[in-house]
Amino acid sequence: MSVLLTGGLGYIGSHTAVELLNANEDVVIIDNLSNSDLSVKEKIKKIVSATREINEINFKVYVGDVRDYKFLNQVFSENKIDSVIHFAGLKAVGESVAKPLAYYDNNLISTINLLEVMKAHGVKNFVFSSSATVYGAAKSMPIYEDFPTGATNPYGRTKLFIEEILKDVYASDNSFNFIILRYFNPIGAHDSGLIGENPNGIPNNLMPYISRVATGKLDCLSVFGNDYNTKDGTGVRDYIHVVDLALGHVCAIKKLKSKCGLKIYNLGTGVGYSVLDIVNAYNKVCGNKVKYKIVARRPGDVDVCYANADKAYKELHWKAERDLENMCKTSYNFEKQQKSGN
Ligand code: NAD
Ligand code: UFG
Repeated sequence: MSVLLTGGLGYIGSHTAVELLNANEDVVIIDNLSNSDLSVKEKIKKIVSATREINEINFKVYVGDVRDYKFLNQVFSENKIDSVIHFAGLKAVGESVAKPLAYYDNNLISTINLLEVMKAHGVKNFVFSSSATVYGAAKSMPIYEDFPTGATNPYGRTKLFIEEILKDVYASDNSFNFIILRYFNPIGAHDSGLIGENPNGIPNNLMPYISRVATGKLDCLSVFGNDYNTKDGTGVRDYIHVVDLALGHVCAIKKLKSKCGLKIYNLGTGVGYSVLDIVNAYNKVCGNKVKYKIVARRPGDVDVCYANADKAYKELHWKAERDLENMCKTSYNFEKQQKSGN
C-alpha cells in the first residue's frame, strides 16, 4: 500500500517523501510543478538510495493537477493508496491578498476533489498541511491547539476553511481519519544539500532571504521592525527544521493506521527565536556574511508566535530534535549549491 503525497516535489513534501521511503513506506507523488521542479524526483531517489537498495524503493511521480478529477481518479485506480498527505497548495500570504481567487480555487478545489476521489476509492486516511497562521494574533503564548482561530488574509482563510470542510466531512462519515498538522515556521534543508527551499524571485520569508544574502545573491536583509514587544524588539517565531517536520508526518501516518478519528496537532519546537537571534546564529555558521538594516514593520506581522507541542509528543510520539545551528548550517549548505537567486 502507498502513501500519496500531493505537492510532494515541493519543500516540505520532498523531505517527507525521503523520510517515508526511509521508513519503508511506498510513495506516490502528484505535483503540477507550479512551484517545484521535476529534478527533485531524482534527488529524492539519490538521497534514499544512499541507505536502501534502489530496487527495494517503491516510488512514483505523476505530473498533474489535483484539481483535475479524471487525472486524480486514474492515479487512484493505478495505485493501491491507503493514506494521503495533502501538501499541494499556494502559500504566499502577500500574493493571496492580490490574487484571492487563485488561492480559493487552488487550495479549496484541490481539497474537495481529493476528498471526492478518496471517497470513491474507499481511501479514508488523510493528513492536511495546515499552518500556525490559523491562530491569527493569539492572546497568549505558547499556542495550544484549542486556542481560538481566525485568519487575517486569503491564504490563512483557505487553511481555516479546509479545516472546517474536514470537520464537516468527518461528521458525515466517521470512518474517515483526519490529522490536521499546524506547522509553525519550517526552515533548514536536508543534510545532503540536494533538497531545500528555493523560492522563485525575491524571497518573502526570512530564512531564504538570509541564505541569499549570505551567498552574495542579495545585498542586505531588511529586518521588519525593532519595536515589537520582544527581548530585542524584532519578531519572534517558532522555527522548526524541515526534517523534523517531515518526521512528524511519518508519525501521523502511523497514527492514522490506529483509526484515530479527527485530530489536530501543532508541529513546532516550543521555542521562540527573534529575527536577530536567527541572523546571529547564521552569521556564526557562514562567517558574518549576513548584513542587515532595520526597516519599518511589515503589515500583518504579529510580534510573537510559538507553539506548545506537547500534544504531538504525547499522541504522535514526535518531538523536534534539530537545533538552530543545524537549521542554519543546512540552509547555507543548500543555498551554496543553488546556481543563482533566480
Ligand atoms: P511548496 O510550494 O514548496 O510545495 C507545494 C507543492 O504543491 C509545489 O511543488 C507545487 O508545485 C504543488 N502544487 C500546488 N498546487 C498544486 C495543484 N493544484 N496540483 C498539484 N500540485 C500542486 O510549499 P511547502 O512549503 O512545501 O508547503 C507545503 C504545504 O504546507 C502547503 O499547503 C503550505 O500552505 C503548507 N504550509 C507551509 C508553510 C511554510 O512556511 N513552508 C507553513 C505552514 C503551512
Ligand atoms: N522578516 C524580516 N525580514 C524579511 C522576512 C521576514 O524581518 O525579509 C521577519 C518577519 O517580520 C517575522 C519573521 O521574520 O518577524 C518571520 O517571517 P517569515 O515571513 O519568515 O514567516 P511568518 O512567520 O511571517 O510566516 C510563515 C509563513 C506563513 C505561515 C507562518 C506560520 O510565511 O505562511 O509562517 O506557519 F502561516
